[in-house]
Order: sequence, then C-alpha cells, then structure tokens
Amino acid sequence: MQKLAMIKEGKAKRFYETDEVGVNWVEYLDQATALNGKRKDRIIGKGSLNNQIDTILFEDLMANGIKTHFVKQVSQNEQLVKTMTMIPLEVVIRNAASGSFQRKFKVEYLKAFKKPVVETFYKSDALDDPFINESQILALEIVTETELAFIIDYALKVNQVLTARYAAAGLKLVDFKVEFGKTMDGEIVLADEISPDSCRLVDEKTLESLDKDVFRKETGDLVDVYTEVLKRLIDSQEAT
Ligand code: C5P
Repeated sequence: MQKLAMIKEGKAKRFYETDEVGVNWVEYLDQATALNGKRKDRIIGKGSLNNQIDTILFEDLMANGIKTHFVKQVSQNEQLVKTMTMIPLEVVIRNAASGSFQRKFKVEYLKAFKKPVVETFYKSDALDDPFINESQILALEIVTETELAFIIDYALKVNQVLTARYAAAGLKLVDFKVEFGKTMDGEIVLADEISPDSCRLVDEKTLESLDKDVFRKETGDLVDVYTEVLKRLIDSQEAT
C-alpha cells in the first residue's frame, strides 16, 4: 500500500490518502498540545509511543467485539485506518473524580463513582469544545436519538474493556475521551486515538499519574511516563 497526498493535519496526527479506497494512512506526530492547542511542544518519541499503545488497545477492543476504524500498524509511528466521516462529539467517561469534574463539583480527587459518569462535548475549536447535553445534540441534529444511544452504550462498553486491560497492567482508568465516526457504509464505529493523551491513568498502588496530565501540569516527563504505560501493556499481554 502506498501513502499518497496529505488530507489533514490535527494536533497530534497527520492523515493521508492511500492507493486503496476507504483506507487512510495515519502518522502519529512527536507533538503535544495543551489548552486546546494553545500550548504546543515537540516531544521526540511521543508519536511512536502513542501509535504502539493505540495499536495494542484497539486490537484488544476489537478482540472483545468492538467495531473500530483500526486496520493495522505499519511502522513505529504509522497505522492504517478506515476512512471515516467523523461525528463532531467527544464522549467522556469517568470512573472516578478528576480534572474538570473535580474542579466543577469540588469533590475529593479520585472519588470512585458507583456508575460511570457520561459527558458529551461538541467538537469545535472555534467554540472551545463546549459541553453539550442530549437535547442540544438532537436540536443541532448532530446525530439521531438512536445513534446517540448507540454511541453512549458503545462508549460504556469501551470503558469495560479498557478498564480490564489497564487493570491487568496495574493501572486504574480514571477517565477517558472517545470519538466516533461513520464508515463509508454508514456504520458507526469507534475512531480517533486511544492513548494516554486522551485518558487519565494512575498506578493502582501509588496513585502516580501516568498520562498527559504530567505534560499539562508540568509535573513529569511525558516520554518516561508513556514508555512505562507501553511497557506495562506489553508485559501484561505476554503474561496472559
Ligand atoms: O479535562 P477533563 O477532566 O474534562 O477531561 C476528561 C478526560 O477527557 C481526560 O482523560 C482527558 O484527557 C480527556 N480529554 C481529551 N480531549 C479533550 C478533552 C478531554 O482527550 N479535548
């Protein structure tokens, strides 16, 4: 397969056409952003780490029956995905209090929830990705009621699989964000990236942060932390 013209460049990835209809080539970049892109740093090795972590997690999700955009990894920092029409929603699932939830409701850090919290955000750089509720999503006709119910149900299934996968690696999945897209056949599947860029992970014993918060809060070295996550995922894969 050949990598052809670039289609778009995001904050952490570049998308290219290929010589196969319905398949895109994704290059993970050595770049980290915070504050919705207002802060941008070059971080050597990040692209390769996220591509490898994402590959392990998408393969695991697919082995557990979740339909996704993922096709295969093609190099350390590149993978193939199905061509998607992205749905402009970010679905956040929270298993414990952190980040904006903790700031908003002033609750104890890592207070565990009896049921996962589901939040939706409208993906728009111009609007700074505002929170959006179900009736607002339907009013803006972003998706239908049936599609929204499917997306939320799917995000909760993803939570179950990822929580178990990270637990096997000694990590607690605190919260994460996922995005969905429609394939060329109109089927809604899990898309975008799943990596420590878009989730919060803590060591199950020490509660040390092992995700992008170390970059956002400047409390640690992103490459060291992501290398540790990848190592634990590989070691726990080999152990099973
Ligand atoms: O900041 P907040 O607590 O709302 O983030 C919840 C989760 O969603 C975190 O895991 C964060 O990394 C992720 N997120 C993301 N992209 C955004 C906003 C949040 O990946 N634009």
